[in-house]
Amino acid sequence: MSCSLLYEGKAKIIYATADPEIVLVDFKDDATAFNALKRGSINGKGAINCQISEKLFQYLQQCGITTHLIDCPTLKQMRVRKVKILPLEVVVRNIAAGSLCQQTGLPLGEILPQPLVEFYYKNDALGDPLLTHDRLLLLKLATPDQIDRLIALALQCDRYLSEFFSNCNLTLVDFKLEFGIDSSGQLLLADEISPDTCRLWDNLEADLKNRVMDKDRFRQDLGKVENAYQQVLERVLAQFNAMNS
Ligand code: TMP
Ligand code: ASP
Repeated sequence: MSCSLLYEGKAKIIYATADPEIVLVDFKDDATAFNALKRGSINGKGAINCQISEKLFQYLQQCGITTHLIDCPTLKQMRVRKVKILPLEVVVRNIAAGSLCQQTGLPLGEILPQPLVEFYYKNDALGDPLLTHDRLLLLKLATPDQIDRLIALALQCDRYLSEFFSNCNLTLVDFKLEFGIDSSGQLLLADEISPDTCRLWDNLEADLKNRVMDKDRFRQDLGKVENAYQQVLERVLAQFNAMNS
């Protein structure tokens, strides 16, 4: 298949296909953190994240959430509906970690009384700042109706994904979603859902460092990054197959 490159991001390359409504996403092994100040590579990450995202999108579709997924022609490539990505990172948090701890002083691991939904501006030059509701409207990044729908969708994804990961003996600490709008104006869940974009703690491991099963292993130089990603894939595949057999 000869496809022309449309866009290359930090973790994925997007190619055009013969169908103008469909693009091909190629998942890279490259890893970055802290707005690309830290760069590296995680062996096999592209194929692992593509397969995890495929299964989680299929699962969410089964739960009634519309996603951009069509299918995966190879282990590291996903055909998706072409969308205009909203320049927003929608983060849902169940447990305090990462920037929430840094910016509020809440202790790592504190269970939040209810899931917290946050919006960040996808803008590398500005360092992806946290947005308020009024700033979202000021910058016209979303309409009031879209904001309500994004919050509702993010909370639904949180409930479904938390249950799924719990069956994998993983705790969904927090995660980031991206959404896009297709040519017919439909709002679709897009991008990826993987250990790059979720914090996942292993319920079978008490040690605070060993329990980390996501990109924090890379961000914090905890080692055994590939092992953790592979382990998440195996558990996700086992749970997905158990649900669909
Ligand atoms: P944070 O605690 O660094 O704000 O991250 C919250 C969640 O969002 C965490 O699961 C990691 C994910 N995330 C991304 O997917 N991409 C990013 O660029 C950042 C900063 C976080
Ligand atoms: N993906 C982001 C970056 O490189 C940050 C992160 O995931 O920590 O810049």
